[in-house]
Amino acid sequence: MRGGFRQARDPVGAATIAGAKGGRGIGGLHRLADFAVEVFEGERLHRELASIRARAPVSHALFAGQPAILITGHQALAEAFRDNERFPPADAYRITIEPVQGVTFQTMEDEQHRLYRRLATPAFRSRAVDAMEQEGLARIAHELVDRLAGTRQADLAASFTHRVAFLVISRMLGIPAHREDVFRDWAVGFLEYPRDPEHSRRCAAQITDYLQPIIAQRRREPRDDVVSALVMADADGHHLTDEEILAHIRLLFSAGASTTTDALGNLLYALLSERERWECLLAAPAQRGNAIEELLRWETPVAVLPRLSAPRPVEFFGVGIPPATFCLFAIAAANRDPAVFDDPDRFDLERDSGKKLLSFGPGPRLCPGMHLARRQLTVALDVLMERLPDLHLLDVDAARPRGAILRGPARLPAAW
Ligand code: HEM
Repeated sequence: MRGGFRQARDPVGAATIAGAKGGRGIGGLHRLADFAVEVFEGERLHRELASIRARAPVSHALFAGQPAILITGHQALAEAFRDNERFPPADAYRITIEPVQGVTFQTMEDEQHRLYRRLATPAFRSRAVDAMEQEGLARIAHELVDRLAGTRQADLAASFTHRVAFLVISRMLGIPAHREDVFRDWAVGFLEYPRDPEHSRRCAAQITDYLQPIIAQRRREPRDDVVSALVMADADGHHLTDEEILAHIRLLFSAGASTTTDALGNLLYALLSERERWECLLAAPAQRGNAIEELLRWETPVAVLPRLSAPRPVEFFGVGIPPATFCLFAIAAANRDPAVFDDPDRFDLERDSGKKLLSFGPGPRLCPGMHLARRQLTVALDVLMERLPDLHLLDVDAARPRGAILRGPARLPAAW
């Protein structure tokens, strides 16, 4: 998901989204938290969500100063994710990202959503994606560790976690190595929408200028990359136009880059802030997959997902919701609901969450990138454990995950 919803670490952008009307809440005795503005470092977010969830599974909150609805209970959230009538999935994205990203299946509904999701499938499942998963991911992780040669300490956010996911997407697209850094800058800049619309538009235009000739070239001579697969995609005789291909490539960055970046940062925080977890996984590689599932439950990067309610008044779990109100899907709260998970605040390497995990948004919008995301986390962890087994954090507090919408560490000062 997510370009456009980075505002938890960026109050100005949040205000832009919702038109910031000031901090008045809707009734009630409790101070309402503003999930677009507050930083919620470390466990603070989870404590706040737990106390709200204990009162009711659906309640009131603020989003950039505006009254909003907050869904924290597991059962309520699982229902909300599948309820396209009361919580139409595309509406929020039409405001927060479509103006710069273009029209994609993310901002479509029903039949059209299904058709375009099929047309864009090669971006998530194709030979190029397979090849990336088989060898490309490990190569990227090794290259980034190679660049640390000769040093004993670094900010692993700047040098590793903030780079992997962008490189993965660039390589799937076939961007040449010498253009990767500048391409990453454009992608990061484009994700600044709506906080900095001008800069975001300039960066989106640069991505377009760069990719347009490549799309034309792949139409003439297809290769084994994602652009070629998108050019050739066919669903019931429908094909993607150049603009549609460009929009779906931008979508890969908005939905797939920051999410996986933050998941990787949270994974390193979870394992290194209590270093016996790291030691345990060093000794038991077979348990790493489970640790990643537990991370996605315990500190998921899309902690609170903003949706808009239907453009008419609706009711949900006894709460009346005015038309087109921001409804905050608190995945982080549902993933720690004690009605569903035993001892939910504990990071438990043995836990099996199975289908109860809501981190990839169950229902018709189930994340199509979840397989790639899980592989990235697994491979990155394997490479770090192999190459830097003595890795440890120099400043645990500085590495705490921050934010509520997208949530991850800003810095990971580490040594090895
Ligand atoms: C750990 C990493 C990730 C997490 C936690 C995550 C989470 C999510 C969630 C919660 C949704 C549902 C959004 C909604 O209902 O509005 C979603 C949708 C989506 N994700 Fe992911 N995602 C991750 C990685 C990725 C990656 C790597 C890609 C692409 C390469 C990706 C592409 C997408 C797309 C395109 C959608 C929109 C689906 C639709 O509208 O049908 N995601 N993701």
